Amino acid sequence: MAYAIDLAGKTALVTGVANKRSLAWAVAKLLHRAGARLAFTSRRLAEDEKAKAKLEALVKEVDGLLLPCDVRDEKQIARVFQALDGEFGRLDMLVHSVAYAPPEALRGRFVDTSKEAFQTALEVSAYSLIALARGALPLMERAGGGSLIAMSYLAAERAVPTYNVMGTAKAALEQIVRQLAFELGPQNVRVNAVSAGPVPTLAARGVPGFTHILEVYEKRAPLRRTVTHEEVARAALFLLSDLASGITGEVLYVDGGFHVTAF
Ligand SMILES: NC(=O)c1ccc[n+]([C@@H]2O[C@H](COP(=O)([O-])OP(=O)(O)OC[C@H]3O[C@@H](n4cnc5c(N)ncnc54)[C@H](O)[C@@H]3O)[C@@H](O)[C@H]2O)c1
Repeated sequence: MAYAIDLAGKTALVTGVANKRSLAWAVAKLLHRAGARLAFTSRRLAEDEKAKAKLEALVKEVDGLLLPCDVRDEKQIARVFQALDGEFGRLDMLVHSVAYAPPEALRGRFVDTSKEAFQTALEVSAYSLIALARGALPLMERAGGGSLIAMSYLAAERAVPTYNVMGTAKAALEQIVRQLAFELGPQNVRVNAVSAGPVPTLAARGVPGFTHILEVYEKRAPLRRTVTHEEVARAALFLLSDLASGITGEVLYVDGGFHVTAF
């Protein structure tokens, strides 16, 4: 499929590619096809040689720059933006596609969520957007503006079985999107979220009952199915591009319409 979005001369930072099934990778492929120069961050580079080699091969497919970054580490975040300053001298787009909660927090009762699990989930999955936006801002100002997107899920506003503290983190993430949009709008920096339906990825497979969730979407979503990686990525590409130049602080649902149904 051809797209009328031309990102030649633009640069993007894509976080959260774990493998070729990651939503961030689907977005990266479309950004590359539209002509953007890409940089990637991954937390897995330091800890796993095999994962590192696989990621390097993937990133090479789109001529990307690969940088290590655990989003909990402010020093690593600072080094990423230093590297981007040297390599690109500007930044036009940022894709936040990072989430984590300790597995036990998604298995037990929500009422038993520990303070540690709460802090970890919120730090990795929500606070990181603030930290990344702060780092990106000077480079986006130099580009005359920019566009950030984050990946959310319906559990931000509905109680979803087993999603537990990750729902709390997504609620925080969506509020952060609105607050950043409000604050950074005058610098022509837009901030939006894509709320995706369930898509099979590494992170999604960690959610207990994920297969059941897929079945529910097939029965109840207006489109009678969940969405594909590429459908999520196309909406992300739209929000990142100038086609969405008048949109900020928005949560765009790409979920086959599931969120509008009551039954
Ligand atoms: N797959 C779905 O069904 C779905 C639906 C809605 C929203 N989302 C969201 O999409 C985003 C991407 O997830 P995905 O489904 O592509 O899974 P994924 O497992 O491919 O991506 C999650 C990424 O988060 C990264 N990550 C975790 N902790 C990190 C840390 N401390 N520092 C840096 N990176 C860290 C992982 O390395 C991985 O690359 C997440 O925000 C997720 O909640 C996914």
